[in-house]
Amino acid sequence: MGRRLSHFLQYLPRLIGVMERMQSESAMRTAARFDFSMGFLLTAVVTVCMAAAAQTADQAWLRYQNSSNEPVPTTYPASPFSSVPLSHELSWAAPGAPTPGVLLDFDHALERSAQAELTRGLKRLTEAEKHPFSDMRPLNEPNVLVFDKMEFAASFPSIKAPALDPEGFWIGSVQAGTSRQIVLVGGSGRGVLYGAFDLLRRMSQGQTLDSMNVVEAPAMAIRWVDEWDNPDGSIERGYAGRSIFFDGGNVRQDLKPVSEYARLLASIGINGCNVNNVNAAPQLLDSDHIKQLARIADAMRPWGVRLAVSVAIASPQTIGGLATYDPLDPAVKAWWAAKVNEIYSLIPDFAGFTVKADSEGQAGPASYGRTPADAANLLAAALKPHAGVVLYRAFVYNHHADWRDPKADRARAAYDIFQPLDGKFAENVIVQIKEGPIDFQAREPVSPLFAGLKQTSQAMEVQITQEYTGQQRHLVYLAPMWKEVLDFDLRADNRPTPVKEILEGNAFQQPLGGMVGVAGVGQNAWLGSPLAMANLYAFGRLAWNPNLIPEQIADEWIRQSIGNDPQLVSTVERMVMQSWPAYESYTGPLGMQTLTDITGSHYGPNIESSENNGWGQWHRADREGVGMDRTVATGTGYTGQYPADVAKLYESLLTCPDELLLFFHHVPYNFHLQSGKTVIQEIYDSHYDGAAQAQELVEEWKTVKSRIDPALYKDVLARLEYQAGHATVWRDAIVQYFFKLTGIADDEGRAGHYPGRMEAEDARLSGYKVIDVTPWEDASGGKAVICGDLAPMPNRPGMPNAGTGASSAPAHLPHSACSAEWTYAGEPGRFNLAAQYFDLPGGTAHFTLSLNGLPAAASASWDADATLPSRRPNGDNSTRKTIPNVELNPGDVIHIDGVPDGQDPAVLDYIEALPVQSESLKPRP
Ligand code: GCU
Repeated sequence: MGRRLSHFLQYLPRLIGVMERMQSESAMRTAARFDFSMGFLLTAVVTVCMAAAAQTADQAWLRYQNSSNEPVPTTYPASPFSSVPLSHELSWAAPGAPTPGVLLDFDHALERSAQAELTRGLKRLTEAEKHPFSDMRPLNEPNVLVFDKMEFAASFPSIKAPALDPEGFWIGSVQAGTSRQIVLVGGSGRGVLYGAFDLLRRMSQGQTLDSMNVVEAPAMAIRWVDEWDNPDGSIERGYAGRSIFFDGGNVRQDLKPVSEYARLLASIGINGCNVNNVNAAPQLLDSDHIKQLARIADAMRPWGVRLAVSVAIASPQTIGGLATYDPLDPAVKAWWAAKVNEIYSLIPDFAGFTVKADSEGQAGPASYGRTPADAANLLAAALKPHAGVVLYRAFVYNHHADWRDPKADRARAAYDIFQPLDGKFAENVIVQIKEGPIDFQAREPVSPLFAGLKQTSQAMEVQITQEYTGQQRHLVYLAPMWKEVLDFDLRADNRPTPVKEILEGNAFQQPLGGMVGVAGVGQNAWLGSPLAMANLYAFGRLAWNPNLIPEQIADEWIRQSIGNDPQLVSTVERMVMQSWPAYESYTGPLGMQTLTDITGSHYGPNIESSENNGWGQWHRADREGVGMDRTVATGTGYTGQYPADVAKLYESLLTCPDELLLFFHHVPYNFHLQSGKTVIQEIYDSHYDGAAQAQELVEEWKTVKSRIDPALYKDVLARLEYQAGHATVWRDAIVQYFFKLTGIADDEGRAGHYPGRMEAEDARLSGYKVIDVTPWEDASGGKAVICGDLAPMPNRPGMPNAGTGASSAPAHLPHSACSAEWTYAGEPGRFNLAAQYFDLPGGTAHFTLSLNGLPAAASASWDADATLPSRRPNGDNSTRKTIPNVELNPGDVIHIDGVPDGQDPAVLDYIEALPVQSESLKPRP
């Protein structure tokens, strides 16, 4: 056993022991505030109230409604009491009543939460099956007995429980007197809590309890979510409304959603939550705000979720009034030590700090010629007496890089800066590394830094919030992507070193490590989109056990969140599993990264925004070729940062996998991939395939209509239809861009050829005028028509196309309505008639489509009322409305009226008649 591992084994129990002790001490101290004998009752009351409130954990997977054809098993076929119905074995305790059913023998807050959850879950699950149900029952009947391991040993001295990790648990059964009892034994109160959720999860999925003999423990010590919330209540890269934590510069009064969120997090084993933006607002560390933060910690504590905050390294100067924030300055050290003591006096189980420094404009140790290790160790020293940790982010790079320098490479930065510091970080520092070397793209190689830090604890940072992966408007199930990263074998020291083993601390025998997910939950149903919740769920499950497979996680999530019907489960599972490959195909295949607007919204196509600026997300597409040469032989040398086997794989054009080719190599468009296709043909094909797959998601969802809640069905259908339309925007933008740039024909004849499309700029226009759209590839033919003029842009220097800021100036709208009219000249038949328009914020334009003077269908009148990022017509807000099954004959007159409103001048791109059951919508074989 290495020195570090043995040290860890001493350290971890101490860490957790300190934590649990603090919890019980804190529980005693706070008894006046929250009497735990009343707590259970309060929980019940709160639960009832929250059922009517806007935001509860029940909206996610903790519904405990077995709304399925597969009932929760009601008997134990193989058990000694096989004829006893489940509702008798698993009874429940009425709130505050003297514990029939779920028996407790403890006084810890976490165990009480476990009791509350078991009570709630068992009651709902058994009620859902309409079983007769009694709340008062003799104690000699079978129960769920809940213990921590000491309590179990005292109660059943003759039975040896399995060895348990402090956060782990055992679910099994024991003979007690005449009956057999289900036991849940936790390695600590925390283990009990995780075990309770595990038991309920298994029941929700229809697993039988009689044969259950489960011993589990989390694979990783650090299992955190990061929220990038600002004190004003906005959320950086959040897509679900406003913050549940902050508003108007302060912590919100109503923290019930925070407790519910913590409950949700506990159910998937998350043990830490950092609540504020990594671009940290220093005022959160003033004394008043620390008191406010303590309220958040109180709200999360019963669920074992420890509070962490992001801190700005310059705080000693900005709020402390010191002349310096030099990490080696004694006054700076003293300031941090005092600040940390102040925090722990109010938040005894405070988890620690996250740091973004010397990155994207954030101040850092570089200002004083110091290293990230100097800064991290400064904070670590202050936190150490309290068993707190520092998560120091390796997302440090120069965003003013010289794009003309062929050796410049943002991908190199983290390794170049952090690898030489290996061994210099204090023991309670964890270096937090994004999964890839750039920035949460739809596809990147694994960061080589994971293999470069062998004497440093590491956490992997991933995004649950879908910044570059469709911003929750697109269904993209990210577990398969994370899983690929976790399983990737970096072959450090020429031996198997999968990333997951590095994060577990096993590969290099490090004391701490784990996963951090940037969640971005908000007030709008947590993540703003029902199916996006699968990502939050999957994140927790993988951090608990990285050996789980994404299909299995999806299966669990679907059964708990949507229903247990077998066809429903298999359909939704298939849909989510195809969503990431589809998204990658229509946004940026072959390792080009997400070809989006990288200086603004990070949404919608904008190919050149990556180029000719210092941000370094270059793909270097020109007339001759595409891709970044990152080889050692002729490029930036990035491949050399990987251990030898992996470096060799990526260095050679012969072995580099197709899906990452353009990340590592610059090649001509007619270069043949391993698949045998040319690069350009793959760019065309993958975009058509990906868009077709997005359309297929709609069709698949339609097949589950009768099997799910109608409101959920309708909500998700609208989202998937939007996604299919937006995938077409992506497809057309990228295909027409590369077609024009290269002049190389598409073997399938699709590029530049859109049968059935009628451009708005070619229509008979009344009121509308023709404009150029920027970037040109975001509109069909680069042009659109506008009813009036665009509102002036808010002043956001350096953000040319961002347009997300508020502007009160109205658009200039001289017309109350404009119109565009076409005479149909195609074949007669039945068509899905699509109208492509730009849905701008700041108003609700209205469109009406008529055929020969009559409404084309009941659905041919619609509002442009979506909330989309940009204030300019472009790929962010290009939106498709499809009127299904319209009969068209040559000579028919198709007419669209566009009524502008506020700052939305009803901008129209084209209409398109797609034959019903169009072959172009079918997936390629
Ligand atoms: C991305 C994101 C930023 C964020 C940054 C980070 O670049 O767009 O909003 O601040 O990541 O991770 O620090």
